[in-house]
Amino acid sequence: MLADDQDIIMPSNFAWGAATSAYQIEGGWDADGRGPSIWDTFCHKKGKVFQDQSGDVACDSYHLWEEDLKCIQQLGLTHYRLSLSWSRLLPDGTTRRINQKGVSYYNRVINDLLANGVSPMVTLHHFDLPQALQAQGGWQSPQIADLFDSYAQFCFQTFGDRVKLWLTINEPYIYAKFGHEDGCHAPGLDQPGVSLYLAGHNMLRAHARAWHSYDALYRPTQGGQVSLALFSDWAEAHDPSSALDVAAAERYMAFVLGWFAWPIFVNGDYPPEMKARVEAASRAQGLPSSRLPTFSKEEPRILGTADFFALNYYTSRRVWPGSGPAKIGFEGDLEVERDVDPAWPVCGNSWLAVFPEGLRKLLKYIKDKFGNPTVYITENGFSQVGPVEIEDARRCRFFRDTLLQVSKAIHEEGADVRGYFAWSLLDNFEWADGYRVRFGLYHVDFAHPRLKRTPYRSGREYAQLIAQNKTSARS
Ligand code: BGC
Repeated sequence: MLADDQDIIMPSNFAWGAATSAYQIEGGWDADGRGPSIWDTFCHKKGKVFQDQSGDVACDSYHLWEEDLKCIQQLGLTHYRLSLSWSRLLPDGTTRRINQKGVSYYNRVINDLLANGVSPMVTLHHFDLPQALQAQGGWQSPQIADLFDSYAQFCFQTFGDRVKLWLTINEPYIYAKFGHEDGCHAPGLDQPGVSLYLAGHNMLRAHARAWHSYDALYRPTQGGQVSLALFSDWAEAHDPSSALDVAAAERYMAFVLGWFAWPIFVNGDYPPEMKARVEAASRAQGLPSSRLPTFSKEEPRILGTADFFALNYYTSRRVWPGSGPAKIGFEGDLEVERDVDPAWPVCGNSWLAVFPEGLRKLLKYIKDKFGNPTVYITENGFSQVGPVEIEDARRCRFFRDTLLQVSKAIHEEGADVRGYFAWSLLDNFEWADGYRVRFGLYHVDFAHPRLKRTPYRSGREYAQLIAQNKTSARS
C-alpha cells in the first residue's frame, strides 16, 4: 500500500463505480430482434473506424453478462454505470414495437446487480441512436424530443422500480461535435456550425422533457434522480498573467461545458458569450440570424432539470486566443488555440494528457459556477495503446493521483462529490479507435473464444482502494 492511500478519504456512502456503454460492450448487434443503431451503420461503412472494426461482437456482454458480473463482484463496486441500447428495446426507436428479449436482458442485468448489492446507474442514450430515427432527421429534427421522452418513459415504467439513478444523454458535446461537425463519430455529418448546435439544442429539449416526465409521473412513486452526463476538459490560461489567455480559458469552458450546463444550472439559456460570438460570426457570414438556436417560451423549462451534476473528465488544455483566418463553425466561433503542458504525460491516445489536478480545479469551477451541486464523476480513465501491460503501473499511479485530487476537492475545496466511476470496467470498442485503445480495469482478450476477462493490476488495486475505503468509512 502506498503512503498516499491514507489521504484518499471519501465520505460514507460514496459511490465506487465503473462504467460501460451498450454499443461498446454488448455485441449481439442483430441478435434477438435488436434494430440497427447509427453506430452499426457507421462501422459497416469502409474507412470510418480503425481497421474497419465494429461493435458487432465487442465484449459480447449480451451473451456473457455473467462474466461482467464476476468482474463487478471482484472489484467490490457499490455502483455500476451501464447504458441501455435504445434499438435493442425499441427496434425502430418508437414504442410501437417493444422487443421483450431486450427487456429481459436488461431485467437480468439490473436484478443481478441489485442481488449483489450493486446499484445501477443507467444511461438512456450513449451515442447509439436507432438508425430508423436518424433516417427521420435524428437529433436535428425537433420531433426527436417527443420520441426520446416516450422512450425515457418506457424505461422509467419498465425498470424504474429498481433503477434510482438515471442519466438521459451521455456527453451531448461529444455527440454533437464529433457526430455533426467533425464527422469522426456516427452519424458522420460534417456541416460546420449548423447541425451541431441544432443537435445540441434538441438534446437539451429532449433531456428536459424526460426530466419533467420523471418528476411529475415517476418520482412520486419511484423516488429516483435524473441528470445527464456532461463532458468537460479543464482549460487554463497558457500564460496566467495574460488577460487575453485568461479570457480564452473562460470562453473555452463556456463553449464546452457551459453550452449544456448553463441552460440547466444557471438560467435556462446558453452562456452570454457563446450567444454573442455565434451571433456575430453568423452575421459576418451574411446569415439573417444566429446559427445557435433559441429556446422557445412554450417549451418545458430547461433550468433546474438535473438532480445532480454528472461529469465525465479525462484531460486538460492550456489555451490562448486564436489568431488565424476565421474558420466557419464551432472552432471559428470559439477562436481558441490549445496545447498541453509538456509536464502532463500523454497516455495511450494522443488527446489524453494526464493532469489529475485539472479534475480538482474543474470540481471547484463547477461548485462556484453552478451553485455547488451534488456531483458524480461518471467517467474518468487512462488508456493503453500497443503491447498489453497487465502490470500497468502507470494506470495504478493515475487512479491514486486522481482519487487524491477528488478527495482534496471534497475536503479542501468543499465540492459535494458523491461518487466516482472509472472508465471502463472492460477493454471495449473505443469508437473510431476500435479495439486498439484499451481503457479497461479488466483486460479483454478479443481473440479468445469466450473473450476472456483478466484483471489488470490497476483493477486489483482499485478493488483494494474500494475495500480500504469501505472499512475506514465504517470505523
Ligand atoms: C465516452 C466513452 C468513451 C470515453 C473514452 C467518453 O467520451 O463517453 O464512450 O469510450 O470517453 O474516449
